[in-house]
Amino acid sequence: MAPWQKTGSPHGPRIRLAGLSALLSGVVVFVVVGVVVGVVVGADVGARSAATSSRSPDPTRLSFLLRGEVQSVRVLDELEKIVVPSKLRVFEPYEEGPAEFRVLPFNAVLDAVYGAGWREQEEVLLTCADGYQPAFPVRRLLDHKAWLAFDRVDGPEFSILKLESGKRRRVDLSPYYLIWDNYNDAELRRQGDYGWPYQLIGIDLIRASDRFPKMTPAPGASSQVLAGFTSFRVHCTRCHAINGEGGSIGPELNVPRNPVEYRDPSWLRQWIADPSSLLASARMPALNKHLVDRDRVIDDILAYLGAISQQKVQPPAATRGDS
Ligand code: HEC
Repeated sequence: MAPWQKTGSPHGPRIRLAGLSALLSGVVVFVVVGVVVGVVVGADVGARSAATSSRSPDPTRLSFLLRGEVQSVRVLDELEKIVVPSKLRVFEPYEEGPAEFRVLPFNAVLDAVYGAGWREQEEVLLTCADGYQPAFPVRRLLDHKAWLAFDRVDGPEFSILKLESGKRRRVDLSPYYLIWDNYNDAELRRQGDYGWPYQLIGIDLIRASDRFPKMTPAPGASSQVLAGFTSFRVHCTRCHAINGEGGSIGPELNVPRNPVEYRDPSWLRQWIADPSSLLASARMPALNKHLVDRDRVIDDILAYLGAISQQKVQPPAATRGDS
């Protein structure tokens, strides 16, 4: 783990995207108005029909969106009626040890809420209570088994003792924690905490181009460039922006100059594979060493960077700043 990941906030590095999706503002309005008035409003995100209850808001509420529009809001009681709860033992990646949770099968929940068509969507965008918004390709749910945890079995509370710089900090997981059956899936086990968001309050099915329009390759891009775009989203955007979209822990990688314009390909390959082999003080972590086809993933990412270097979007003059 790298030093900048040891922040006091529950999720470590934050991805602050320009214009956080309608969900977050919707949910904030939702929670605030709901708590104060005791009536759920959320009309600006089209949730009125899904939330006609006059009871005070149930803290187990989970919002289901499709491309930014709320389709449904369900509470745990309702979810437990549509899918069968069970227990699952996993290797808990933040605690770094075994843990057992009470869970609902995630794909079955999505089937019940969206119908089978959710499988045709591109990307799952999750929203956590603090605004953290991780995403992963829908494909991951088809290749691996995910579960929606709502309680812990082997402990008194729905929480974990997260290991941070050798110390343990108790982190509340409620209302939901997305977990994966990593005891029976070696690839998942190797991926650590990627795709394990806690304090989950919203699920949105989106197209990558909706979320990252300026980062998306132009229509007609080769399959290698598209594969590289997917890999870039999985491995790089939490720290790097392209055309101003993405994380800000590392440098923007397209404007004014894309590294493919000033670094040679072999240098870039080695940098992505192992930054500290080129710069002892590098803060950037090496690309996941356990990836299958790691060299191909790097080539794809370079193909993507090459393509996007032809599609520069200059930031607005007002924010450019010459000082
Ligand atoms: C955890 C944050 C993080 C992740 C993830 C990350 N980077 Fe970086 N990257 C950085 C930081 C920070 C720097 C600035 C140099 C340094 O301190 O390491 C950097 C620098 C770079 C540079 C500039 C190197 C130079 O000197 O020209 C490139 C290119 C780059 N990253 C590509 C990538 C790619 C491609 C990925 C995904 C495979 C990636 N980064 C993932 C944090 C990250």
